[in-house]
Amino acid sequence: MVDYVVYGRGAFNQLDAILAPRRTGDAPMIFLLDHQFEQAADLHARIPLRGNDQLIIADVTNEPKTSYVDALADQLKDTFGTVSGIIGIGGGSVMDLAKAVALMMTNPGKAQDYQGWDLVKVSGVYKAGIPTLSGTGAEVSRTCVLTGPERKLGMNSDFTPFDQIVLDPDLIKSAPVNQRFYTGMDCYIHCIESLEGTYLNAFSKSYGEKALELCQEIFLTPDWTDESDEKLMMASYFGGMSIAYSQVGVAHAVSYGLSYLLGTKHGIGNCIVFNHLEEYYPKGVAEFKEMVRRNNIHIPEGICAGLSDADFDTMINVSLGMKPLWENALGKDWESKISREKLRALYERL
Ligand SMILES: [Fe+2]
Repeated sequence: MVDYVVYGRGAFNQLDAILAPRRTGDAPMIFLLDHQFEQAADLHARIPLRGNDQLIIADVTNEPKTSYVDALADQLKDTFGTVSGIIGIGGGSVMDLAKAVALMMTNPGKAQDYQGWDLVKVSGVYKAGIPTLSGTGAEVSRTCVLTGPERKLGMNSDFTPFDQIVLDPDLIKSAPVNQRFYTGMDCYIHCIESLEGTYLNAFSKSYGEKALELCQEIFLTPDWTDESDEKLMMASYFGGMSIAYSQVGVAHAVSYGLSYLLGTKHGIGNCIVFNHLEEYYPKGVAEFKEMVRRNNIHIPEGICAGLSDADFDTMINVSLGMKPLWENALGKDWESKISREKLRALYERL
């Protein structure tokens, strides 16, 4: 779990004070900032750079690759030896990138060596996450999803969660409407997949139900207000806590195949898949479609048109590799319930 949480409008202004006791000697704090804010001079001016701290614009045009994590960690080790901490400011990709780089500052080898469950050996350097987009739950998750040479899989471990997060609803209010919806739906889908999954227990149910209620309040009411940002930020947190003790399900397992092959971003990929999952989550999909309609959002179709047999095989392999997700969704005998043919037919419908 995350050790320290600060929540509130304007909480970002406390960052300098929050980081001060975490600074060790001359070792700098490294701020990874979402490239979306590359030109945001006002935000840059609010980042508390001290001494030889560095602000690095994180290019998350594509979701983070293990090679990018290694390159950043190597660059920091070459330049500074060690750092006081890594601070990720951005959406899920930047937060996951910050977690991974912090871990690779102290763990030997390459990031791809740690893609899996409980492979990370030692704690990384201090790390803090500051979301500018809510829904992924990356601020609370014990993973950091990375695309490696062989798989798209996170570094799931007890060392992965942030030491500190700063949740400031002011930071998410400028998110583009479509992006906000797709990422918000990631949270909604976390709730459905967790609450309808076989791994569910009272811990995940308690968080999942509250997150679901917040998502319904936000996305089934027509007007977006400051309160919507506040609720979405907490929905993301609770949704992430819910899957911390359960798992996601079919939409995530299938959308990982899309993102591995086509580079489809996580939020929109989940929406594209969930739109076709009536068989698995009938009530959730009906409500999702209502949210799409009320928010006047377009969900892309036909993204798998023209793909080759080899392409479909790649996606199917990536998807079926997500064993815990399928087991959560369909039970211990999941392999008898989902065949390669069935999965191919689903991908063709997307
Ligand atoms: Fe997700």
